[in-house]
Amino acid sequence: MNFFFPEEASTFARHVDGLYLFLILVTAFFSLLIGTLVVVFAIKYHRKSPDEIAAEVHESGVLEIVWTVIPFGLVMIMFVWGASVYFRITRPPGTALDIYVTAKQWMWKLQHTDGHREMNELHVPVGQPVRLTMASEDVIHSFYVPAFRFKRDVVPGRFSVAWFEATKPGKYHLFCAEYCGTRHSNMIGWVYVMTPADYQAWLAGGAPGESLAASGARRFVENACNTCHAEQSGARGPSLAGLYGRNVQLANGQTVLADEAYIRESIVNPHARLVAGYPPIMPTYQGLITEDGLLQLVAYLKSLSPAPATGPAASSPPAASNPERKAPRP
Ligand code: CUA
Repeated sequence: MNFFFPEEASTFARHVDGLYLFLILVTAFFSLLIGTLVVVFAIKYHRKSPDEIAAEVHESGVLEIVWTVIPFGLVMIMFVWGASVYFRITRPPGTALDIYVTAKQWMWKLQHTDGHREMNELHVPVGQPVRLTMASEDVIHSFYVPAFRFKRDVVPGRFSVAWFEATKPGKYHLFCAEYCGTRHSNMIGWVYVMTPADYQAWLAGGAPGESLAASGARRFVENACNTCHAEQSGARGPSLAGLYGRNVQLANGQTVLADEAYIRESIVNPHARLVAGYPPIMPTYQGLITEDGLLQLVAYLKSLSPAPATGPAASSPPAASNPERKAPRP
């Protein structure tokens, strides 16, 4: 495989390459077959005397069936194979290590849940699924690590969630794969895949700073979220403890999984999918909270859920109410 393809360093690299190789071989085979037949038939059946008129062929049931069934079978193989690779790539396992990514012109900012922050560099352990929750502060970027066969657009106004699992320690190129302005070509970096021991040593070295969940908890109080979303029942907004990963009953009768996308939407556009039993009084925070802030709030809400541990424990939640903060507009 390495003759055709760059290094394979993630669990799904060989699946992507296998499918890609199949597509290339099928395409090459039919291109050669058709190209050859065009030339051969042009020579073999060319008009040999000026008055020669070809006999018309009207129908051939066998031929029709053959050239329908063979392409149908081939594209069904591509479809089923492609769908299985697609599902493998798009479904993050529950046990993944969470990394939060902010893209902006022209750099990558990467945050670990324990508070380690990196610029244009990402350190991850080998053999461990890594889940990226990505946001853009300006235009569309695309997080691309060729050796992992990993590429995901980072689109402003929403989170892009994707994952990979590296299989070989080493240093791998990180590119921005979406033209994003003058210095797009400089928006590059490295992913360092380390053995678990080296990774632990890397985590231990360097002051990590405040954990992401703690930063989120601070923003939760700064934005006075806690004045309505208090722990006790009877508060003006629903309690957010244990929200992440749970199904939420909405006012319109539907239910929705409280994932990163739903939490984000509920902050910037609170009335889009309102929780059943609560009035539409929450103001929008569109433009009031940075992308970093939204990611930190998500990390904080995740830390309030008992579900699979996503990193070092978060700090204690903020006090339930803080009368010094102004209440949100009704
Ligand atoms: Cu960011 Cu191109």
